[in-house]
Amino acid sequence: MYRIAVIPGDGTGPEVIREGLKVLKAAAGKFAFNYETKEFDFSGRRYLKTGKLVEDKDIEELKKYDAIYLGAVGDPEVKPGIIETGVLLKLRFSLDQYINLRPVKLYNAQFCPLKDKRPEDVDFVVVRENSEGLYKGIGEFQNKGTKDEVAIQISYNTRRGIERCIRYAFEYTRKRNKKKKLTLCGKTNVLTFAWDLWQRTFDEVAEEYPDITTDYAHVDATTMWFVKNPEWFDVIVTDNMFGDIITDLGAMIQGGMGVAAGGNINPEGVSMFEPIGGSAPKYTGKNVINPLAAICALGMLLENLGEVKAANAVEDAVIKVVQTKLKSLAAGKMGHSTTEVGDLVVENL
Ligand code: IPM
Ligand code: MN
Repeated sequence: MYRIAVIPGDGTGPEVIREGLKVLKAAAGKFAFNYETKEFDFSGRRYLKTGKLVEDKDIEELKKYDAIYLGAVGDPEVKPGIIETGVLLKLRFSLDQYINLRPVKLYNAQFCPLKDKRPEDVDFVVVRENSEGLYKGIGEFQNKGTKDEVAIQISYNTRRGIERCIRYAFEYTRKRNKKKKLTLCGKTNVLTFAWDLWQRTFDEVAEEYPDITTDYAHVDATTMWFVKNPEWFDVIVTDNMFGDIITDLGAMIQGGMGVAAGGNINPEGVSMFEPIGGSAPKYTGKNVINPLAAICALGMLLENLGEVKAANAVEDAVIKVVQTKLKSLAAGKMGHSTTEVGDLVVENL
């Protein structure tokens, strides 16, 4: 019996999670596993009503679950930074989900904005460090409000934090067993403290993986190659900030936020799966948002539980729907409503 904590969140979050849960139900029937879900209402909406964010006792409760399934959090009425830090980052950090795994896979060439790129050309995975770097929240204002104001934001990188992320990336590349190539994406030419440590750690760990080809690309060049030669990549490992930025570009070349999913993974603890787009306030309640990213996130959740056949079947069903049923992957342009797209995935499962 799998116990799954569900956080629908704000905006279109609940709409896409509903479709994901439909697919979960169908997958459980077909692949004969049992599960129960419990809903948690952490969200911007709840914050506006009660002033509450995710608390330490909530984290203790969530540790009792096998996985967490998250829609989206964020409300336009709340000042930027509060919900992000108090809900999403609080969950990622407190549950020590130190990997953010973001596959970039094109399911239908028709939806790729890059000329002449086929599904086999856009198929790589970004392993984003998810617990440190600029996201650590270390810094200060000096002389705040004066002409001499200084804002300092520190990128905090520990040998341990880097090494566990890099090891995960090497293991993942080996297990994925495709090009068996791992690219370190950094900025060794300018950020000479952080990326020196990253590069040294990468080189040391690489010696234990002679079967994996290694490569290095500066982050700016990485964005160029995503557009020019995405087929060069197999697995990319990078820090929290760069991983955040390059995976939005990754989402675009795979067909848009409508299909981009990610996993916040603690290999020794509780992991959390989410579509990587936001709460999309302007599409809320219209039954037009694309639920496939949330459904792909559900697929990743199933794989994490060890239900590999079910996970693969969910992905195959998504591919079928993307290849044969949708006019577009963008909200409002799919040729189907949110609920219809969920139904189509269930049918193809
Ligand atoms: C993401 C988001 C988050 C991040 C925000 C909402 C805190 O952009 O999951 O990529 O920066 O990690
Ligand atoms: Mn982001």
